Amino acid sequence: MHSDIKEIMFSEKQLSDITDRIAEQINRDYGSSDIIAAVVLKGSLIFTADLIRRLNMCVRLDFIQASSYGAGTQSSGVIRIKKDLENDIAGKHVLIIEDIVDSGRTLALLKKNLKDRGAASVRIAALLSKPSRRVADVEVEYIGEEIPDEFVVGYGLDLAERYRNLPYIGILKPEVYL
Ligand code: IMP
Ligand code: MG
Repeated sequence: MHSDIKEIMFSEKQLSDITDRIAEQINRDYGSSDIIAAVVLKGSLIFTADLIRRLNMCVRLDFIQASSYGAGTQSSGVIRIKKDLENDIAGKHVLIIEDIVDSGRTLALLKKNLKDRGAASVRIAALLSKPSRRVADVEVEYIGEEIPDEFVVGYGLDLAERYRNLPYIGILKPEVYL
């Protein structure tokens, strides 16, 4: 598994520092308001575990798994929820936790969907973002690091369900894709 990695983009120490920084901003912005963490499965699992232990307010954990239909189809702009939240979020402050923002399609639809349920507020915390890939117009309030258009794995991020358990984030060797 480790031998499939060409280059480490973020070491465990760097990921810890990034997470410190995001948590500081969230603690400052929300103060003592309770939040519901809407964890987008599965990639953000590890980031979530590290992030919420740095948060000072009461955090309720909830999970959602969603996908957007591809662009160019009749149904684009529709979100398919594979697993929904268990909490009624009306009147609650919801923080969506995501591993990486790529086109932004999934998050744009998810944010709208959760707002439509009457949440008091809906914000997004994403560990990584690829701004050059953005298609959907979605505000991501907390971003750990912006990265170039490279496919990365580890720390929850996968290629076909593999590499999620790497403790760092890295770029795969090209031959892995062959
Ligand atoms: P979006 O709707 O196009 O923004 O899709 C974002 C989702 O695509 C993320 O939640 C990831 O599951 C996946 N993704 C995007 N880029 C990467 C990457 O570099 N590595 C692993 N997964 C990625
Ligand atoms: Mg994925």
